[in-house]
Amino acid sequence: MTSFFTRLLGALSFIAIIFSPVVQAVAPKAVIADGGMVASRSAWASQVGAQILDQGGNAVDAAVAVGFALAVTYPSAGNLAGGGFMVIHLNDGTVITNDHREKAPSASTKDMFLDSEGKVVKGLSTKSHLAVGVPGSVAGLLSVLEKYGTMDRKQVIQPAIDLAAKGILLDRDLVTGFARRQPDFAPYAASRAVFSNDGELYEIGDLWVQSDLAQTLIRIRDKGRDGFYKGRTADLLVAEMKSGNGLISHKDLEDYQPRWREAIRGTYKGYEIISMPPPSSGGILLVQMLNMLEGYDLGAMGYGSSEAIHLMIEAERRAYADRAEHLGDSDFYPVPVAQLTTKAYAKERFADFNPSKASFSENIESGEVPYESLETTHASVMDAMGNAVSYTTTLNLSYGTKIVAAGTGMLLNNEMDDFSAKENEPNFYGLIGRQANAIEPGKRMLSSMTPTIVVKDGKPLLVTGSPGGSTIITTTMQIILNVLEHKMSLSDAVSSPRFHHQWLPTRVIYEPQAFSADTRRALESRGHNELVVLPGTYQIGDANSVLRTEKGIEGMADPRNAGTAVGSPGAVKSAAAAK
Ligand code: GLY
Repeated sequence: MTSFFTRLLGALSFIAIIFSPVVQAVAPKAVIADGGMVASRSAWASQVGAQILDQGGNAVDAAVAVGFALAVTYPSAGNLAGGGFMVIHLNDGTVITNDHREKAPSASTKDMFLDSEGKVVKGLSTKSHLAVGVPGSVAGLLSVLEKYGTMDRKQVIQPAIDLAAKGILLDRDLVTGFARRQPDFAPYAASRAVFSNDGELYEIGDLWVQSDLAQTLIRIRDKGRDGFYKGRTADLLVAEMKSGNGLISHKDLEDYQPRWREAIRGTYKGYEIISMPPPSSGGILLVQMLNMLEGYDLGAMGYGSSEAIHLMIEAERRAYADRAEHLGDSDFYPVPVAQLTTKAYAKERFADFNPSKASFSENIESGEVPYESLETTHASVMDAMGNAVSYTTTLNLSYGTKIVAAGTGMLLNNEMDDFSAKENEPNFYGLIGRQANAIEPGKRMLSSMTPTIVVKDGKPLLVTGSPGGSTIITTTMQIILNVLEHKMSLSDAVSSPRFHHQWLPTRVIYEPQAFSADTRRALESRGHNELVVLPGTYQIGDANSVLRTEKGIEGMADPRNAGTAVGSPGAVKSAAAAK
C-alpha cells in the first residue's frame, strides 16, 4: 500500500513536470519517506533505485542499480562508457570514495590536441575518437557492489536490461534532447540508429528500444567486468576506435582499474563535509571555500544579500585560481591536498578579502563558459539503515562525443577535454590548467564533480552534488549553505536561483532572480563589473538531493529539469508535508 503511494507520488510529480509548459512554474516539492530515498535526473532510474530499496537492498545496491539504469534512460550523461565518482558513508562509520574516472589511453601524448604550430585544434578533444578516455563506470560500479553491496549483479543490472530490451516510452525531455543533437549524430551510423526512428525524429510516446545496449548489459550481468573490458564489448570498442583513429587498445581496457580513495574531509560550523578527492577538484575546492567562509555569519547576512554574494564570489575566485595551478591526478602530480584544505591556509588565502571591494582575477586570456547544457548527472541515495551514497557520473559534454560505438549501443565519452590541452588555454568550460593537469598516458583528467555528504553527529544529513562542469562545485556549495546557513527546506535549498564565478573568465554568471536589482547595484559598487544574467533557457546545476529530517528522509529532484525523487515504502507521508 505504502509502496503504491510512493510510486504514485513519484509518477505524478514526473507527469506534472513533463507536461508542464514552463518547468519552473511547477511548485517544487520534496517527497518524504521513511524507507529510503533516491533522487536522480531520470524518473525511471529513481524508480529502479527505490525498487532495490524495497527489495531489501542497501543504499549502495540502489546507487549501483541507478547507475546502470541511467545509462539506459538518461543517455546524455548516464553511461557505461564514461566515468564517475561515488562517495559512500555507511552506518558503521565507514567513509570511502570510489574513483572510476576515465584515463588517458596509453598511446596519448601531452600535445595530442595541438597542431604543428602548437595551437589547440578546435573540436579535437570534444568531437573525435581521440576525445575518448578509457571508460571507468562499469569497473567502478561493479567494484562498489562487490565491496559494499548486499545484492548480486543480476539483481542490480536486470532492471536496466529490461528498460533497454523492452523499451521506454519517450518523454518530452528525451525527444527534445535527441532532436537537438541530430546534426551531431548524423555522421555516425550507429548514433543515427539509436537516436532516430529509422531516420525520422522520435516523437513523445514512441517506444524506444535499445537492443545493442541490452546485449552489452547482459554481457556485463553474466561476465562482470570481463563482459565489458574483454571479449565482444572490448572488441567492438577497439574496432570503433580503429575506425576513427582513436587510441584505446585492448590492453588499455584490460588494465583499467577503479581506485578506492580516502575522502576529502572538512568541517563547517559543527557539520562534517565529506567529498571527492583528486582526480576531482570538487572536494578540495568545496572545503577550501567553506573554510574561507566559516568565519562569517552568512545566515545573518541573508540569502541573496550582496554581502553574502560578495564573500562567496571572492572565495570562489581564490579557490579556482588554486585549481588551475595545483590540481590534477594525484597519482601523477603532487597535489598539496592537506595544505589546500586546512583552515590555516584558507585564513591566509582570504586575508586580503576586502568587504567593500572586489579583487581582480589575473589578466590571463580565458575562454567563455558556454551557454549550453553542461552535462553530467548526479544521484543521491539514502536508505533506512543510515547508509548514504552520493554519485556523480558523466560522459563530459551532453551525449559525450555523440559517437555510439557500433554494435554496443553505448555513447563514447569526450572526457579528454577535461585535461589541459595546453597551458593556460581554456577547455570547454573555460577552465585553464597547467602541468598538474597535462595529458600523460594512464593519467586521469581533472574533474569538477563534487558528490558530497554532509554529516551531523556521525550520521549522514544531506546528500548532494550536481552536473554542470565548472559550476558543479559552486552549485554544491550553494545547496550546503542554503541548508546550513539559511535554514532552508530541502525544496527551497535546491530550487533557489544560483550564481557562479570561477576566477577566469572574470565574469559572474547568475540565473534570473538570483540577484535583485539592489543586490546587483551593491555588487557593482564593490567593483563586480561583469555580472551576466543567463538566458532563461540556461540553468546552473541540477542538484538532485536527499536530506534526513525529523519527519523522515526527504528527496528533492531539481525543478530546473525533469528528474524525480522516489521514496521507498514505509510511507511516503505526503509530498506537501516536506515543505
Ligand atoms: N566532465 C566534467 C567534469 O568531470 O568536471
